[in-house]
Amino acid sequence: MNMDDFICHPLFLRNMELVFATNNKHKLEEIQNALGDKLKLLSLKDISFFEEIPEDFETLKENAQQKARHIFDRYKINCFADDTGLEIDSLNGAPGVYSARYAGESCSFEDNVQKVLKELDGVKNRKAQFRTVISLILNGKEYFFEGSVNGEILTENQGVGGFGYDPIFKPIGFDKSFAEMGLDEKNKISHRGRAAQKLVDFLLNQ
Ligand code: IMP
Repeated sequence: MNMDDFICHPLFLRNMELVFATNNKHKLEEIQNALGDKLKLLSLKDISFFEEIPEDFETLKENAQQKARHIFDRYKINCFADDTGLEIDSLNGAPGVYSARYAGESCSFEDNVQKVLKELDGVKNRKAQFRTVISLILNGKEYFFEGSVNGEILTENQGVGGFGYDPIFKPIGFDKSFAEMGLDEKNKISHRGRAAQKLVDFLLNQ
């Protein structure tokens, strides 16, 4: 091992098991991509957890905390969870914490997108932001990291990549939607990418 490897891969990180408490493979892929090979994340599947984790709260922070605590209480393992919301100015911050189920309990990503497009039909102010809060439980202590990105809601789907509201979200300073970006490009500027970067910086400084 050369010195660079040692600096980039502290023993602490290489020996650590860190669970990302999510069932969303896109999110897992995005955060693993942000971490690179510094640390291999375990998914819920990897620890044989196949239940839905409750999200009962009205804020992203409390929901992220609830998800991380749910896994920590069961397995006593280092873990983190995220909660994300799309906050649209002219809808007074909706769908916000209800982003996943905006069009109803078992709705699809496309159902949610169509609901937003309908509500913004003819609306001029299309400003919005994505916000992510990550809750980490490391050696029994809790930490929080937040990331956000400003943008606007398009008038129709653009692109087929990503997930969720990606086809209708165009970040400020770009002329394409998140769904038209590769993973690396999205990660550099996205809400989750920014929160994940703070998580990585924190872990590397332990
Ligand atoms: P969650 O509660 O953190 O899983 O996120 C709530 C919902 O927000 C998801 O079901 C997606 O519809 C949406 N969402 C979360 N992250 C993203 C993203 O990076 N792009 C687009 N939509 C997202």
